[in-house]
Amino acid sequence: MEKLNQVYEGKAKKVFATDDPELFIVSYKDDATAFNGLKKGTISGKGVVNNKMSNYLMQILEKNGVPTHFVEELSDRETLVKKVSIVPLEVIIRNVSAGSFAKNYGVEEGITFPEPTIEFSYKNDDLGDPLINSYHAFALGLATKEEINTIKTMAFKVNDVLKEYFKNLGVKLIDFKLEFGRLSDGSIVLADEISPDTCRFWDINTNEKLDKDRFRRDLGGVEDAYNEMMKRVFGE
Ligand code: TMP
Repeated sequence: MEKLNQVYEGKAKKVFATDDPELFIVSYKDDATAFNGLKKGTISGKGVVNNKMSNYLMQILEKNGVPTHFVEELSDRETLVKKVSIVPLEVIIRNVSAGSFAKNYGVEEGITFPEPTIEFSYKNDDLGDPLINSYHAFALGLATKEEINTIKTMAFKVNDVLKEYFKNLGVKLIDFKLEFGRLSDGSIVLADEISPDTCRFWDINTNEKLDKDRFRRDLGGVEDAYNEMMKRVFGE
């Protein structure tokens, strides 16, 4: 597999073409941003943690019937993935109130919902990723109705699998963001990453935050939190 030119650089990852037109290589950086890029920093070792954790979780999801972009881990920071065109939706599942949910609706963080919620943001940095509903997504031509239904079903399935998986590691899965992509045949797969950048993880006993909120909120111990999650998933 030959790595060719860079085709995209995002806030946390670079994407490269390969000599196979159906495959890309993603390369995870240590760069961290928050609030639509307003806050910038570096989380040392984050790229390695996110690459390895995301790959591991995607393989668990594949085994549970969720198709993903994952093909093969190439190194600590690089992974071979199926080429997708990203559906420009951030799909957020919540089990417990936190973050923008708590802020927007005036409730405290930490309230467990009777059942998980789903919401969409329009992935558009210029607009600040505004919250939209599935009718808006269809009206804007971001996805077909069938794709939106597939995405909803897959997102709740991801939640069922990961909630149970993390519970066994002593971690509460509070909420998370997913992105989906279309393969060349039009089918929908889970893409992007699943990591402490894109999930809220709270220790089951102490409620200690083990995710990017430590960076967003200047809580300190950012690297320690990523390393702790790495340890819970992979052991020592
Ligand atoms: P929120 O409460 O700020 O809306 O975040 C919900 C979840 O989505 C949380 O686990 C963090 C994740 N997230 C991202 O992955 N990228 C983003 O740009 C934002 C705003 C949140």
